[in-house]
Formats: sequence, C-alpha cells, structure tokens
Amino acid sequence: MLSKDMNMALNKQVMMEAESSMAYLSMASWAEQQPGLDGVTSFFYQQSDEERLHMLKLIKFINERGGKAEIPSIDKPMDEFSSVKDVFGNFLQHEFKVSESINELVETALKARDFATHSFLQWYVNEQMEEERVARQLNDKLELIGDDKSGLYLFDRDILLQAATASSQSKP
Ligand code: FEO
Repeated sequence: MLSKDMNMALNKQVMMEAESSMAYLSMASWAEQQPGLDGVTSFFYQQSDEERLHMLKLIKFINERGGKAEIPSIDKPMDEFSSVKDVFGNFLQHEFKVSESINELVETALKARDFATHSFLQWYVNEQMEEERVARQLNDKLELIGDDKSGLYLFDRDILLQAATASSQSKP
C-alpha cells in the first residue's frame, strides 16, 4: 500500500510528465510551422508521445498499489522559439529538471523505506540518463552547425531518419 506522502510525491511526477508531453507537443507544432523542419517536427511529436507513456506508467503504478492517481491541470506550454537551437536548448533544460525531480523521488522512496516504489523508479532513472544523452548530443551538433543552413538541413534529415527507425522499432 502506498503511503499518503509517497502518493503525493508520485502525483507531482505525473504532473511533470504531463507538462513534458505538452511542452514537446508545443515544440513539435512550432517546428511544423517552420519551412523544412520535418525531422525536428517528427522528433518532438515522438518525444511528446513518450512523455505521455511515462505519465501513464506512473498513473497505473499509483492505482495498482492502492493509491489515487490525480490527473492534473497544467499551464499552457511555451510556444514561441527564436530558432531550432533555442528549442533544443529548452528541451535539454527541461530534461535536467525532470532528472532532478526523479532523483528527489528516489530519495523520498528510500527514506520512506518504500522499496517497491524505489525499484519502480529505477526505470525512470535509466530513461532520464538516455534522454539527457540524446538532448546533449543534439545540442552539441547544433553548436557545431552554428548558422550554417546546409548543416541544419542535414541535421533535420538525420533526425528524421532517427525518428523513423525508432518508430519502426517500437512497432510490434
Ligand atoms: Fe519523462 Fe523525459 O521525462
């Protein structure tokens, strides 16, 4: 049975994953409005879907352990960006915030001696390491590209191929 405090802490994470999903949906929609950013658009639509799955996984865990998952209302995400670099910079900063929040949750679970929640959260710890790695790598590439338009074209093409491979691998 989930304690009240742990339930509350997990619900806060549900909200964070919901905010992430909407933030990336907003980035996808922004990218879709710009000419020629098919790859960036697909990438963020996919990221948004993944964050929704992270949220669902938490909701199910809370309910299955006798808790009460709350579906949060969330603020409108940022929807104006000055460039692709700006979008990816925001993406990385957002993932840092999520990692911090997951780490705090892990600490809370450990202090409460809630080993089931602690074990469940390890999936999120690993997922955050991977998401930070991807976000960092993409930001590094954009740093190298600078204002080079042909570089940005290739960046978008690469990310489109990456998104297509990831989506075909996730199909049953
Ligand atoms: Fe589920 Fe990347 O936060």
